[in-house]
Amino acid sequence: MIWELLNDPNTGKYAVFASIIFFGSLEYILGHYKNTRRTKHDYLVEFLGLVLLTINSFVVLFGIIYLGQTFFPEASNSLSTLSLWLALPLYMLVDDIAQYWYHRFAHEYSWMWKHHRPHHAAEEMGIMVSYRNSWLYYLFLPNIWWAAICTFLGMIPATVLGLIIKQLVVASSHSTWRWDESIYKIKSLSPLMWVIERIFVTPAFHYAHHGKSKADNISDPNGNFGNAFSIWDQMFGTATFTRKFPTELGLQTDPKDNWSSHIFYPIIKSKKEGSEISSNFKKEKTATLDALTIELDAGTHLWCQCGFSKNQPFCDGSHHGTKMKPIAFQMDKKRKVKLCNCKQTKTGPFCDNTHLEIKEV
Ligand code: FES
Repeated sequence: MIWELLNDPNTGKYAVFASIIFFGSLEYILGHYKNTRRTKHDYLVEFLGLVLLTINSFVVLFGIIYLGQTFFPEASNSLSTLSLWLALPLYMLVDDIAQYWYHRFAHEYSWMWKHHRPHHAAEEMGIMVSYRNSWLYYLFLPNIWWAAICTFLGMIPATVLGLIIKQLVVASSHSTWRWDESIYKIKSLSPLMWVIERIFVTPAFHYAHHGKSKADNISDPNGNFGNAFSIWDQMFGTATFTRKFPTELGLQTDPKDNWSSHIFYPIIKSKKEGSEISSNFKKEKTATLDALTIELDAGTHLWCQCGFSKNQPFCDGSHHGTKMKPIAFQMDKKRKVKLCNCKQTKTGPFCDNTHLEIKEV
């Protein structure tokens, strides 16, 4: 019976919907939708994102099978005899590393960021936040292509089982039911959690990725890119483990674009002034040559390193869509500092007088 279910490609899709119903019901029963800040635009983006992802998955699956059988008929089902012990890690590791880089590039390249930005415009977590991306983001999502290729090659049980495992990790890391939070408080389980969080993405690990800014010393919106496994972030130097949950989620500067521009960009563009997905948006350098001497309060401050912030010399989130990120620095007490504004200093965030040697930023 179980083997028959694993041999049906549709089982994975039913499992995804079952997990949405499970986590959604749990969040509802726990009262997480009372006093929600979600707007009708949020609900629409999440619902339509899920619909588009589902449609894309079916179209890509049938497309790959059709093209495969037309051009490479001998490859059809050629890996069906591969042991599940080999096929499952093969499916899951390729799937997850591909998504790590796709997701990371979506933060580092402006044209991709615009399609992933709806995901980070969410100010609250929840099971449906996983489905906030534009139609183009889903069209090129490597996971649906890889799942279709594995299905064509006959690795159906591995694909179905891998999809179920991944969905459980991804759904739980976005859910408002944070399964790991209470376990961190049990000291004797700390070593076990250390191992778990070094392999799988936990809610704390992923919430840090959704935090508004590094200023809270918990969040890293430009790190923790992993989906099912945290191993890629550790391997490529983007992991932050704090076991804490940020209280402020979303974009630092959010023009509150409507659902249609979030989902259908660039076919529909935002009419909101200053929005990255509006037709007249230009990312312009705002850095200037002169350093700024300013009195800062004690606490954590974020210095803009990319040169695009409209609140120089501090970060306002404009670095999204670039490989740059802010430098967080601590002030132990209120005092005057000279901050670099030309972005060429070697002692960022502080001015080292490099601006005296250069003519323009
Ligand atoms: S706006 Fe954040 S680093 Fe420049």
